[in-house]
Amino acid sequence: MGAGWSMRSMIARVPGTRPACGLAPISCEGDGASRPHPSQMPERLSLGLVGTGWVTGLHLPVLRRLDRTVLAGVVSGSAERASAVTGRWGGTAHTDLGQMLEAEHPDAVLVCLPPDRTAAACRVLIERRVPFLTEKPLAAGAADAEAVERDLEGVDLVIAVGYNWRGLDFLPAVRERLAERPARLVVGRWTGRLPPPPWWRHVVESGGQVVEQATHLYDAARFLVGEAEVHGAASAHSPRADHPDADVDSVAAAVLRFETGAIGAFVNTSVLDSDVIELELISDGRRTIVRMHAGPAGPRWSLVTDDGDGERETPTQRDPYEVQDEAFLDAVEARDPSRALCTYADALATDRLVRSVVAATGSRG
Ligand SMILES: NC(=O)c1ccc[n+]([C@@H]2O[C@H](COP(=O)([O-])OP(=O)(O)OC[C@H]3O[C@@H](n4cnc5c(N)ncnc54)[C@H](OP(=O)(O)O)[C@@H]3O)[C@@H](O)[C@H]2O)c1
Repeated sequence: MGAGWSMRSMIARVPGTRPACGLAPISCEGDGASRPHPSQMPERLSLGLVGTGWVTGLHLPVLRRLDRTVLAGVVSGSAERASAVTGRWGGTAHTDLGQMLEAEHPDAVLVCLPPDRTAAACRVLIERRVPFLTEKPLAAGAADAEAVERDLEGVDLVIAVGYNWRGLDFLPAVRERLAERPARLVVGRWTGRLPPPPWWRHVVESGGQVVEQATHLYDAARFLVGEAEVHGAASAHSPRADHPDADVDSVAAAVLRFETGAIGAFVNTSVLDSDVIELELISDGRRTIVRMHAGPAGPRWSLVTDDGDGERETPTQRDPYEVQDEAFLDAVEARDPSRALCTYADALATDRLVRSVVAATGSRG
């Protein structure tokens, strides 16, 4: 970890007192007799936040529950939107990342921007040696992600990438099943609705559905089964009457071969009004399915197993975003980049895989 981190740490770490909500710890709820006296509470990390959209709304409650951070600064393109977040969650509103870093000296930053904006923010944070968790995907275009990787050469910095499926609490059980009977076929399906943000519909802003969304399936497959090569892929675009501006492909399918010998078949589409999102691992006599249930309040996950005697479905006991954010805070506190659930280099391997899929389709994404 560079000296810059230590310096910031000394400046910015705040004792775990519970000031009135305003510039408050993220957790402003739950004050009560059961809480330890402030002098006994651990120091909290000061946190910066960039982006005030949907996924930010999943992280902030998690961080409140974890109760290990103080929200110091929020960056938005609009002062009003930044203030709307700080008014509820604490911290000071900013409209520029550099200014926020100068003013607040956060110990760590959360980047929740559209894919085409993400790499520029990451590069600023790397230049200033500020640990960060950035949402997936790494970028809309491959060149931006590779530029960040080049910036990271020789830099020892905690960086986590938001492949939150890695935080699913039942993955050890999945690994156990696969150790007993290896996957022969890996079937990924991200078949669902068109996400609402306008940027999502445009390849230059999102990278397209494989890069932005189905990437979770490819990452989970790499994580559980191993590395894979793309053996072929196809995609198609059909115009949308409701969104004539949309240029992302509407459907895509890819065939992969994993280093283990397993074959992969991955499909995705956004033309539906319902969702089936799952990664199915097929072994001799066994199905093991990681299933995501989309919902307006945020996704949920369950593990489905079938050993020939009917399906059993077990929901997660813990929010994977919470597991992920906790591991990131652990990594920041320990100054140990390897403690992040998904490092930048690991995410880049997923990024290269999904871009190989897109390249094999012959389309832009
Ligand atoms: N891991 C997951 O499960 C998961 C789930 C959903 C999304 N994500 C990822 O998280 C990132 C953000 O997604 P989201 O769903 O939160 O998107 P969103 O709701 O559209 O929010 C994006 C935020 O980025 C800021 N922004 C800056 N420049 C922008 C621009 N030119 N156009 C639009 N917004 C801009 C906006 O904040 P201001 O307007 O305040 O500046 C906006 O609040 C994406 O990379 C996405 O892939 C991950």
